[in-house]
Amino acid sequence: MVEWVIDTASAEETNRLGRCLGQVIKEPAVLLLTGDLGAGKTCLTQGIARGLGVPESEPIVSPTYTLMNLYEGRLPLYHFDLYRLADPGELEELGMEEYLPGEGVAVVEWADRFDELCQSCLAIRICHRGPDKRTLHFCAVGSTGKMLLQALQSVWNQRD
Ligand SMILES: Nc1ncnc2c1ncn2[C@@H]1O[C@H](COP(=O)(O)OP(=O)(O)OP(=O)(O)O)[C@@H](O)[C@H]1O
Ligand SMILES: [Mg+2]
Repeated sequence: MVEWVIDTASAEETNRLGRCLGQVIKEPAVLLLTGDLGAGKTCLTQGIARGLGVPESEPIVSPTYTLMNLYEGRLPLYHFDLYRLADPGELEELGMEEYLPGEGVAVVEWADRFDELCQSCLAIRICHRGPDKRTLHFCAVGSTGKMLLQALQSVWNQRD
C-alpha cells in the first residue's frame, strides 16, 4: 500500500489535481472516492474527465436518476455515484463488477456505500478543512493503483 496526503486550497486546485490524475491514466483503472457531502468528489471527477480527454463542452455532473454516467475520453469514463443506492442488488443489476476494472476508468463517488473489494485501485478520501481547503488522502492498492499514484505525484510535483 502506498499513501499520499495532499492539501488543496481551492476547487480549481482540486480540479487541477484531478486533471493531472486523468492525464497519467493510460489503462483501465478504478478510483474509489469517499468524503462528506460537498467534499469535492465531483470537482475532482470533473478534472479527471478533462485529463482523460472528455471535451470541455461536455458537462460532467453526478448521475442522479441512474447510478452511472458514461463519458468518452481516451478511455471510457464510468462515473458512478452511489449516494442514492438503496440496496446492493441495484449494483448487481447494473453489472457493476464488470467495471471494476472494465474497459475504461471507473470513478465511484460514495464508494463506501458498497464493500466490493478491488484487487487494484486508487482510493481517495477527501476531508473538509475549511471553506476552500480540503485534504486528499490517496491510498494505492495493487500494482495499477501504485503506478498511477507514483505517476500522479511526479506530474504534480513537476508542474509550474
Ligand atoms: N479545495 C476544494 N476542493 C474541492 N471543492 C472545493 C474546494 N474548496 C471549495 N470547494 C467547493 O466545494 C464544493 C464541492 O462540491 P462537489 O460537488 O465536488 O462535492 P461532492 O463531494 O461531490 O459532494 P456530493 O457528495 O454532494 O456529491 C464545490 O462547491 C466547490 O466549489
Ligand atoms: Mg458529488
